[in-house]
Amino acid sequence: MSDATAKKEERRKFQAIRGTRDLLPPETELWNRVEQTAHEVFTTFGYGEIRLPIFEQTELFARSIGTDTDVIGKEMYTILDRASESLWRDIYELYEALPHHSVSRDYSAFVSRLIAFVQRVDDALAGGDIPATERNVAAFGDLKEICRRAQELSMPDDGRRPTIQAGWGTLIDGLLSWRNTLDFEENLSLRPEATASVCRAYIEHNMQQLPQPVKLYYLGPMFRRERPQKGRYRQFYQIGAEILGGTDAPAIDAEVIEMLMTYFDKVGLQGATLYINSIGHNADNCRRGYVAQLKSALEKVKDKLGPDSQRRTETNPLRVLDSKLESEQAIIATLPHIADHLCDECKTHYAEVKRQLEVRGVLYQENWRLVRGLDYYMRTTFEITAPGLGSQNAVCGGGRYDGLVELLGGPPTKGIGFAIGEDRLILSLQEGGKGQMQQGRDVYIAWMGEHAYAAAIRAAKDLRNAGFSVELPPLEQKFGKALGQADKLGAKYALILGDNEVSEGLWTLKTLADGTQQKLTEPDLLQFLRDQKPASQ
Ligand code: HAM
Repeated sequence: MSDATAKKEERRKFQAIRGTRDLLPPETELWNRVEQTAHEVFTTFGYGEIRLPIFEQTELFARSIGTDTDVIGKEMYTILDRASESLWRDIYELYEALPHHSVSRDYSAFVSRLIAFVQRVDDALAGGDIPATERNVAAFGDLKEICRRAQELSMPDDGRRPTIQAGWGTLIDGLLSWRNTLDFEENLSLRPEATASVCRAYIEHNMQQLPQPVKLYYLGPMFRRERPQKGRYRQFYQIGAEILGGTDAPAIDAEVIEMLMTYFDKVGLQGATLYINSIGHNADNCRRGYVAQLKSALEKVKDKLGPDSQRRTETNPLRVLDSKLESEQAIIATLPHIADHLCDECKTHYAEVKRQLEVRGVLYQENWRLVRGLDYYMRTTFEITAPGLGSQNAVCGGGRYDGLVELLGGPPTKGIGFAIGEDRLILSLQEGGKGQMQQGRDVYIAWMGEHAYAAAIRAAKDLRNAGFSVELPPLEQKFGKALGQADKLGAKYALILGDNEVSEGLWTLKTLADGTQQKLTEPDLLQFLRDQKPASQ
């Protein structure tokens, strides 16, 4: 690298990674309001917040979401987590010390070393130095057994010498090959969604023993390596809820959707449309029969389909219904509808979900093409679109996933939930004129003089304690300049404190919107501001 290039490199400006962005004030005020409303509304429906890790074993997502989905196939951020170098070194040193040719036949020094090594591996597993995979946990069990045998063999020989010799031979062979039973690497992925993690947590914490159903909600960033565009990011935020355990009663589906619509209403989202569908039972014949029919219908028109749909015809025919490709729309319209293939149970379930929505006054539209992009769904699926979002207009997606907990190694468990795309919700609120947040400060303290400054500090403390936002300039300014500054910051009031005000005990409060001024004592000032404050603040 030439000097000039090196210098240029040094001065390079860093930028947020493509598809990620900083959220700045005052917009973050809106984010906070949207999140606060979620806490409030979901709590009234009996949900509790769960906070989940940002990364998990890749396998968890692959098994839940399905390997032939875009999310798993193309979009995950996966990292290789390697066992620490120091563990490698410890293994190497242990092997170096193996008593192959021990003349003294005194193995006790090696046994102490082995015992210390067992402890080292135990710590490494607990501390994440090596991944705590099933294989590694089993390998640790084997190591403990080898150690136990070694301790046995190192007991006084009581004339067992030949047996002991043979025993050590086998043990050393076992120890040498033991290393190959360890996983030194593991794939971890940044979470592309949180339903899989919630199910993992449900199993891990034995939540099936809690009163059922368990209702959980979460907020936070998700990661998908999609092509960034309006409303589509690589780090985006979801607000989601899951209800696990209990029954698959249609009332549960309807109530989850009702909660969602209540939430949208409370945050002021306008023009949201709810689409629903039932995609049948995955373990039953109804879905399988339909997919077989769909596949054969698609095969007949395969040459008219684009490459993605051609591939999906083979791998995941349902997903063809999701296609947005203009040239495929007329063909898709002629494909068989799942509603005509639902088994009686699924048909009744779907009809009851719709009836329950009506009872709750939730408006919906049916969309037979709503199959969702993740493999775990069954029966009820739903999506909500909102205006102002362009092509990425789905602001929420969800559905029932009764088999998922079981698929992840847990007990048979019913499940349903949704996730709201928070970025898109915010965008739609802003486009609909609902995104303005109150900016500025309540009070700007314009002070001059040393006595005034002490009073200003005290006033700032009292006002802040009373919940007002206060700007206290760190340096003395002429009143004219201070008032200009107060204006720029969008302050509602300027509190003018000069030494005169302080000695008189009467403080000047200027309302910046109309320029009026009044003189108030300190307690009256606080009371006045309290009286002016809107109830919601
Ligand atoms: P999803 O449809 O993949 O479902 O995502 C839910 C919502 O997250 C979408 O409707 C969209 O608003 C938002 N979203 C997805 N990808 C992006 C992106 N790249 N940029 C911005 N927003 C995005 C799920 O994630 C399921 N876990 C939902 C669920 C919960 N189903 C049952 N329980």
